[in-house]
Amino acid sequence: MIGLFDSGHGGLTIFRALLRRFPDLEFVYLGDHANAPYGNRDSSEIVDLTRAGVEQLYARGCKLAVLACNTASAVACRTLQQDWLPGSGYEGHNILGVVAPMVEAATQTPWAVTSPQYPQKYNDDTIAVFGTTRTVSSGVYSEEIAKRCPKVTIAEQACADLAGAIEQGRAKGELDVMVAEYVRQLLDRTNGKIPERVILGCTHFPLIEDLFVQHLSPSTRLLSQPQVVADSLEDYLVRHPDYAAPKSSGSKPALLTTGNPDQVSLSLELFWPRADAFEALVTKN
Ligand code: DGL
Repeated sequence: MIGLFDSGHGGLTIFRALLRRFPDLEFVYLGDHANAPYGNRDSSEIVDLTRAGVEQLYARGCKLAVLACNTASAVACRTLQQDWLPGSGYEGHNILGVVAPMVEAATQTPWAVTSPQYPQKYNDDTIAVFGTTRTVSSGVYSEEIAKRCPKVTIAEQACADLAGAIEQGRAKGELDVMVAEYVRQLLDRTNGKIPERVILGCTHFPLIEDLFVQHLSPSTRLLSQPQVVADSLEDYLVRHPDYAAPKSSGSKPALLTTGNPDQVSLSLELFWPRADAFEALVTKN
């Protein structure tokens, strides 16, 4: 079983893409709604909360946990992979994030390659990243892109209130005003240069991708995180088939929440129309 972890609803944009891509595999989703949003939290809190979520997925039989959240991936993924997992007693388990696949797609360079290679070392495009405050302040997108494409100009824009506004179901017009302002701030930073490529580095943003396209330019290539993550996982599972456990016939993907299932299921419609409701996470040791 493969487990997806997110601070709340946003990771469902990734979850749905994975269910479509891998209809025969067993998945479970855990949203940490009790502690959402993560976007403005301290790094150490994000690491602790993410580790607790991953442990719950492991306790349910998942061998692979995908952090379907840019904030958790940017802040906690490497720490958990390198500092926690090896001595945790979860041998044969792994954690993947959603930042690495986006960096690979944006730089056209495999994650394992951490120095500039021809022809990407001569790439002098502008790449924009829109994310939560904590994703942007982690600097991880800039750092990882610059390692592979040192001539690229990277402009990161924190969109402090946007994920929350999407989750609250605010009107499209209101979201449009917010996106326009975040794009304006980004273009201030690039001195008006329209980026060639854009990473929407927050799992909520695919829901309003059209607004970003509208305020950027038709020539800008928007990297679709759900598709990129599905491509990347497909490649990973070919190399690590042990994590690709087939589902038992008829079983439905479970949606678990640390929050109040009745309350969090109310806004599910925005992310996944006609999805089954969330169930309360029963904590396992
Ligand atoms: N899912 C988070 C992300 O992709 C955003 C929501 C939050 O702030 O918790 O960054």
